[in-house]
Amino acid sequence: MSRIYAISNQKGGVGKTTTAVNLASGLALQDQRVLVVDLDPQGNASSGLGHHKATVDAGIAEVLLGFEEPLDVILPTEIDGLHLAPASGRLVGLEVELVDTERREYHLQTALAKVADAYDFVLLDCPPALNMLTVNALTAAAGVIIPLQAEYYAMEGLSELLRTIAAVRKSLNPDLERTGIVLTMVDPRTNLASDVATQTRQVFGGEVFDVTIPRNVRLGEAPSFGQPIHTYAPGSRGAQAYHELADEVLIRAGVRSGSRTVAPAATTRRKRSQEAS
Ligand SMILES: Nc1ncnc2c1ncn2[C@@H]1O[C@H](COP(=O)(O)OP(=O)(O)OP(=O)(O)O)[C@@H](O)[C@H]1O
Ligand SMILES: [Mg+2]
Repeated sequence: MSRIYAISNQKGGVGKTTTAVNLASGLALQDQRVLVVDLDPQGNASSGLGHHKATVDAGIAEVLLGFEEPLDVILPTEIDGLHLAPASGRLVGLEVELVDTERREYHLQTALAKVADAYDFVLLDCPPALNMLTVNALTAAAGVIIPLQAEYYAMEGLSELLRTIAAVRKSLNPDLERTGIVLTMVDPRTNLASDVATQTRQVFGGEVFDVTIPRNVRLGEAPSFGQPIHTYAPGSRGAQAYHELADEVLIRAGVRSGSRTVAPAATTRRKRSQEAS
């Protein structure tokens, strides 16, 4: 059975795509079959996994419009077991195109039902907006993972997202869960980061993942090489953090019980030696 998670926060630049790509590779390296669906017209998850949207003839937009079958647009990545339903240029106008369609909130759910059995996890990288693409993601998902940037205004806007989740649960997807909040871009040297972490845990308790994602130069560099952190810089702090997040997700998903594992070596077809940082 496949577990579908929306990675969502309408705030821009909080680490949604970084989390989608690197949680996906962390899960794939632990023998999970994973599909990343790029629902953001910016196409960052696609380029971060080696497929720039300019090179994609047909992607998830064409699937949602009923022009393509999901299986026909899914692409492999450098990591075994990690696949991508990419963004194409058509995703840019899709929001508007979907408005007049029947059952417009359910297109992604219907599409994923056709391929979900082939995957243990499906991660939906949402755009920075509470729009029809995000509503499609929340309607198709079993849970939401919310990346929260450890900065002063971190929780601002979160109530809007939580209200949207509640509204979707009420009318479109009663089983939708809040899987967890992941603190991103944490700089352990600043008081601000630990203040935000403490405050978030006070408000949301166990909903916050134990692991926090550090601000790490390698995480910022990896997308420009079209690679997840686990192949780009497997020894980095960022790689370890996303490995640990994958552990926690496996535990929350009920796939695994108990303690964390040691990070496995990444397998890559492209040789690139990178210093750990
Ligand atoms: N832990 C990190 N350490 C260093 N850089 C990071 C980290 N997480 C994300 N970044 C960088 O910060 C920027 C924003 O991250 P990302 O694209 O993942 O956010 P996003 O929420 O998907 O943005 P958008 O709302 O535009 O889709 C990117 O340049 C990314 O490489
Ligand atoms: Mg993004």
